[in-house]
Amino acid sequence: MPTTFLNLSLILLVVLLTWLAYKYFELHEIVAPYQKRYKHLLSGIASMVDRIEGYNVRHSAEVAKICERLGIAAGLNLMQLQTLKTAAMLHDVGEILLPADVLNPEKPLDPEELFLIRAHPLLGELHLKKDNDICDEVPAIIRWHHERWDGLGYPDNLKGEEIPKSARILALADAISAMSNNRPYRKHQYSGREEILFELESHAGLQFDPELVRLWGKLIRKDLAEEIAEKLKQDDEEVEA
Ligand SMILES: [Fe+2]
Ligand SMILES: [Fe+2]
Repeated sequence: MPTTFLNLSLILLVVLLTWLAYKYFELHEIVAPYQKRYKHLLSGIASMVDRIEGYNVRHSAEVAKICERLGIAAGLNLMQLQTLKTAAMLHDVGEILLPADVLNPEKPLDPEELFLIRAHPLLGELHLKKDNDICDEVPAIIRWHHERWDGLGYPDNLKGEEIPKSARILALADAISAMSNNRPYRKHQYSGREEILFELESHAGLQFDPELVRLWGKLIRKDLAEEIAEKLKQDDEEVEA
């Protein structure tokens, strides 16, 4: 009797799991095309903003990728990562509303122009929030992507952990991407990842969350070590051939 009961329970369990798997794939089939369309839309808007900012590269997509690596290292869950990546793709969307000469100035900005530039996180937040209650934390992350760990950022002068972790990650990722790409107005161009890391480390605890800089350093040093190991392996293979 107990054996029959056990067998019956097992059969029911298998049937239930099969049904759940079927439902999961059915749902996935329905949702996947919408997710793809959403991603395409996001990347279209992002590349428009990149152009307006004068980037020749896919800066916003690069920021989203760095955010993903940093977010995983910092222990964000899947939902938080999704939200952060969306905010990264749209972080400077408010700049669409600014005059072109403010975005790509030929001379240093005057106080009024600086005020306008500093309004872009608020413009982004405002327009993404408008008529959209389900847009979760994306607008808030965008609002705070220029806050600094030492409280000298904008628009709210938030300090340290007052700034949500996702916004701190986005601020760091934005700086990494900007430093990795040559910008015409910048006097100093960085020579590579090591120099960028050195610069970030010198601003840890001032502009950036020191723990996030430490995590980025760990990732970069691991990348560099792996690349050296791979290069040595290739050299050995060439010698042997
Ligand atoms: Fe920005
Ligand atoms: Fe940016």
